[in-house]
Amino acid sequence: MDAQTCILTRRSVRKFTDEPVSRELLEKVVALAAYAPSWKNTQISRYLAIEDPAVQNTIAEEYCLAGANNPNIIKGAPLLVAQTFVKDRCGYNRDGTFTTDREDGWQYYDCGIAAQTFCLAAHDLGLGTVIMGVFDRKRLQAYLEIPQDQELMALIAVGHPAEVGPAPKRKDVDVLLSWR
Ligand SMILES: Cc1cc2nc3c(=O)[nH]c(=O)nc-3n(C[C@H](O)[C@H](O)[C@H](O)COP(=O)(O)O)c2cc1C
Repeated sequence: MDAQTCILTRRSVRKFTDEPVSRELLEKVVALAAYAPSWKNTQISRYLAIEDPAVQNTIAEEYCLAGANNPNIIKGAPLLVAQTFVKDRCGYNRDGTFTTDREDGWQYYDCGIAAQTFCLAAHDLGLGTVIMGVFDRKRLQAYLEIPQDQELMALIAVGHPAEVGPAPKRKDVDVLLSWR
């Protein structure tokens, strides 16, 4: 698939078939996501693959928040990936001070780029994904026993698409782009 087609046809997929996602396929996705640009090539993004339906059910039942259909998405996905990041690297100088007034905000920026690269790679390999931000982050981080030097960023449901919705409307270029 060429890059433009991949960008234009990737959708957030919220319904998946029962077909499992092989470890080999997920490894390919992560190997491609590793090529995302990152602050000083710090590559802080990590991926915890959750393939135990009991754990997914617990996350769906006990760690989601109102405002999204995430419990059903998580229960219906063959695989759930928790994206985490290694703290205190991205946005920092070697002596531990911040490089810019964005302070540690760059770590979220890098995670976003990595997540989109992950989703585009998955799409190219025939998988559907949806990034989810609506969950009880601190409690879920404890339940998943995320290491102390990492922080939970996002959940990404992964599977073979059963249903792909239309693209939500995008803003026009004249709204997005200005010139000086
Ligand atoms: C940071 C972030 C958080 C999101 N959180 C959720 C979520 O909790 N639940 C959900 O169903 N979709 C979530 N989405 C998916 C967006 O709703 C979706 O990307 C947007 O509507 C555009 O649709 P598209 O991805 O098909 O182009 C999230 C997307 C991003 C980037």
